[in-house]
Parts: sequence; structure tokens; C-alpha cells
Amino acid sequence: MVSPPDDPQATVLEIENLAIEFRTERGWVRVVDGVDLWVGRGETVGLVGESGSGKTVTSLATMGLLPRGEHRIPQGSIRLVGEELVGMPERRLSDLRGDRVAMIFQEPRRSLDPAFTVGDQIAEVLRRHRGLSRKAALVEATVMLDTVGIADAARRVADYPHQFSGGMCQRVMLAIALACRPTLLIADEPTTALDVTVQAEMLRLMNELQAEFGVSILFITHDLGVVAEMCDRVSVMYAGQVVESSPMEELFARPHHPYSEGLLAAIPDHAEPGGRLRSIRGSVPAPWDQPAGCRFHPRCDHAVVGLCDTGDNPMRTGADGTPTRCMRLGELELTGTL
Ligand SMILES: Nc1ncnc2c1ncn2[C@@H]1O[C@H](COP(=O)(O)OP(=O)(O)OP(=O)(O)O)[C@@H](O)[C@H]1O
Ligand SMILES: [Mg+2]
Repeated sequence: MVSPPDDPQATVLEIENLAIEFRTERGWVRVVDGVDLWVGRGETVGLVGESGSGKTVTSLATMGLLPRGEHRIPQGSIRLVGEELVGMPERRLSDLRGDRVAMIFQEPRRSLDPAFTVGDQIAEVLRRHRGLSRKAALVEATVMLDTVGIADAARRVADYPHQFSGGMCQRVMLAIALACRPTLLIADEPTTALDVTVQAEMLRLMNELQAEFGVSILFITHDLGVVAEMCDRVSVMYAGQVVESSPMEELFARPHHPYSEGLLAAIPDHAEPGGRLRSIRGSVPAPWDQPAGCRFHPRCDHAVVGLCDTGDNPMRTGADGTPTRCMRLGELELTGTL
């Protein structure tokens, strides 16, 4: 699938030409600029890119959680199962949050309230969105705790977050997120803070629960190894823009954008034995200091002077239909990892 299907019921999330600006000392600064992104029903879509590329800001906009008064959305649209979220009143947004769309974050311990039991925190969303009594919500909370693989759930439901390890706190966050059976789960680096074995268990659990709950997932990560394990499709973000959206296997076999090629070459497993890990030279430009033409051109080995450093660089569609933001689309033979 290279563009969203026509049937709105088949597309859970559809972001179109989205721009987001923040109020700063330099005036309004645009940090997300013309993002197109969609997630189909039951799909897991990876959102990858270096730090500062706009992944979290895009997902917070989808949750309606960007700081009030500090941001504006001058263009674009975010539709959740056909319903427009941009400009939606806060009351309605807070009805959707935790119910139709839920999010888990990198640091689960910071997202949990130390003063309440984990059971009460899972029960809270069920009382708020399902109108369950405290007792019924706690029964359901115990079921959810068991579902996310916490042993002895009936007892642990009365424990406080500090009695749980980091990996278990992330499971609790997943229980809260999935309690109301959302259509879309946004996972923002959910395993980055966990150690490697706990990370692997968490990914396995998310895969299982996706099959069980039929939830669609937008999975934000730096780690292309995680993408390979979890995702059906991938959107690659650079400097506030999506530069390529491809099916997962295709991205790894035949990247369309030189930035994707660079990210793949930097995967540790593919470094030469004893050799240095390749990284992409240079660094991400500041949002207020974007270069003309293609934003990636100062770091790109394939850039052509007079072509890549000037004019607009819209999303283009290649011969195989993959949306790509590269002036040289169709001319380059880029290297994957497979
Ligand atoms: N409240 C804010 N006010 C001003 N600028 C902000 C605000 N929040 C984020 N930004 C800026 O928006 C840009 C995108 O940030 P974002 O957090 O989305 O990046 P990211 O891709 O999630 O990076 P990371 O991989 O480090 O999490 C950055 O330049 C960041 O400094
Ligand atoms: Mg982020």
C-alpha cells in the first residue's frame, strides 16, 4: 500500500500536509512541515528519524497534547477514523484520548502517578470512558494487568508504581493504554529506556496484544532493528518532514531516499567486523535554519550542486509508487541491508 486506501474505515489515522509551529524567542518556528502519514487498520507503522526530526511533536498533535498557547497548526489535517482532530474542542479531544487513541512513552515511571496504586490508575480510564463503578473497574484492571503479563495480578493490582521494575511499569502503561480497546496506539520509544532482554519481551508482548486487540500502532523509534521486528510500513522523518514511506521489507532492501540509506548503513549489526560504525556526516539543522532545496542535501553523498540545493522539494512518487522527497528520485541506485 503506497497511499491511504479510499475507504476511510480502512484508514485509522490519516495525517495530511501537517505543519506545526512553536512560539519561541525567534518568533514562530516551524518544526513539522508538510507531513503526510497514515496508519491502516491493524497495521503497525514505524516512524523513524534522528533526534529532533519531529516524531514526538507529530504524535502529541495527534493526541491533542501539544502545550496550549505555545503552538499553532497553520495548515494540514489529522483524521482519526475520518474525524478531524485539528481544531477540535478540548472536551471532545479528551473524550477520544485514552478511549479511541492512546499513547505510551519512553519513561513509564514518569507517566505513572506514584501516589496511586497501579490498579487505581488502570481503573481510572475505565471509569472515565466506560462509566464503570470503582469495583467493576478494579476487576477489569486486574484482568488487564494479567493480560499484559504481570504475574499474580490479583495481588499486584494494589501495589504502587515504586514496587514495580521499569519493564513492569511499561506493562502497566500498556494496560492503561489498551484498557478501553483504542483504535490507535501511539508508542513513542516504548523500549528505549529498558535493558535489552526486557526490551525483547516488551516487543513480543506488543506483537501479541496487537493480534489480540486488533489495535493499529504508530511505533516511534530510533532503532531500525525494532522496526524490522515490529512494523509493516515505515515513514522516515528528517528535519520536520517525511522523506520516504515504504513497506518495511522494501525500505531495508531498496531505500528510496539517501537519508534512509544512511540510517540503514548506521545499524550496528551491519558494521564491518572491527570496522567503525558508519554514521551520517554532519548533523540535523535547527528548525529555524533549514537549508534551501532538499533539507538533507548538506549531508548527502548524492547531492548535486544547482539541483538539490535550490527550490522546493515536494514529496514525489517514484515508478513503484513510493512517496519520496528526493530531487534525484529514479536516478539513484541506493544500497539496503538485505
Ligand atoms: N514546546 C516546544 N517549544 C519549542 N520547540 C519545541 C517544543 N517541543 C519540541 N520542540 C522542537 O521541535 C522539534 C522536534 O522535536 P521532537 O521532540 O518532535 O523530536 P523527535 O523526533 O521526537 O526527537 P527524539 O528522537 O529526540 O525524541 C525539535 O527541534 C524540538 O526542539
Ligand atoms: Mg521524541
